[in-house]
Amino acid sequence: MNHRLLFLGPPGAGKGTQAQRLSEHHQLLHLSTGDLLRAEVKAASDLGKQVEAVMARGELVSDALVLAIVGERLKTHAKGWLLDGFPRNLAQAEALDDLLGGLEQPLQRVLLMELDDETLVSRLLNRGRTDDTEEVIRHRLNVYREQTAPLIQHYEALRLLSRVPSHGSVEEVAREVEMVLGSPS
Ligand code: AP5
Repeated sequence: MNHRLLFLGPPGAGKGTQAQRLSEHHQLLHLSTGDLLRAEVKAASDLGKQVEAVMARGELVSDALVLAIVGERLKTHAKGWLLDGFPRNLAQAEALDDLLGGLEQPLQRVLLMELDDETLVSRLLNRGRTDDTEEVIRHRLNVYREQTAPLIQHYEALRLLSRVPSHGSVEEVAREVEMVLGSPS
């Protein structure tokens, strides 16, 4: 199986859920920028204080901050990793391409998790994280469409993208993920 992977998709599509399962199964580093940023907020670090309000509004944190967090971790983990929630816009994707090119560890597969908006919203309202109010969820969806969705074309052009229908149960989607990973890109 490829071991340098990226999960792409709207908020609530199940990126974190599937990334965690897969990384445990295959001993990959699960690198979630959302989790890393929330840990900084919880620790009330300088970085956490800078990003808290931005995250609460459902906006994207600055590229420079996110790149610093990710770059350090990728450099020290050559075995295999799974990116979840990063990159989030073309600038981050291009910076990632450069970083991985320098490390001679190119991305091998991008899994696009696809799900309709109403199911996304209802999953997130059920979860109830602080940024899971209906207003902020709808804003995150708009941010996704405007800034993150262009990455679909970017990775299609690089012939790295595979689509994962994500409306089934967690186990059903996990089977879809394994099936996609078992097939040639
Ligand atoms: P982030 O933490 O990345 O949030 P997100 O993209 O909005 O993604 P979610 O965690 O909401 O959804 P998910 O697809 O991971 O779904 P999950 O598996 O959790 O980002 C949060 C914020 O951080 C951003 O708004 C931004 O401010 C900042 N940020 C993060 N990365 C950044 C970056 N690179 N650049 C700039 N800013 C950045 O599942 C959702 C729920 O559904 C869970 O309750 C789960 O249990 C449930 N569920 C999952 N799968 C299923 C299923 N198959 N059936 C039923 N329920 C399911």
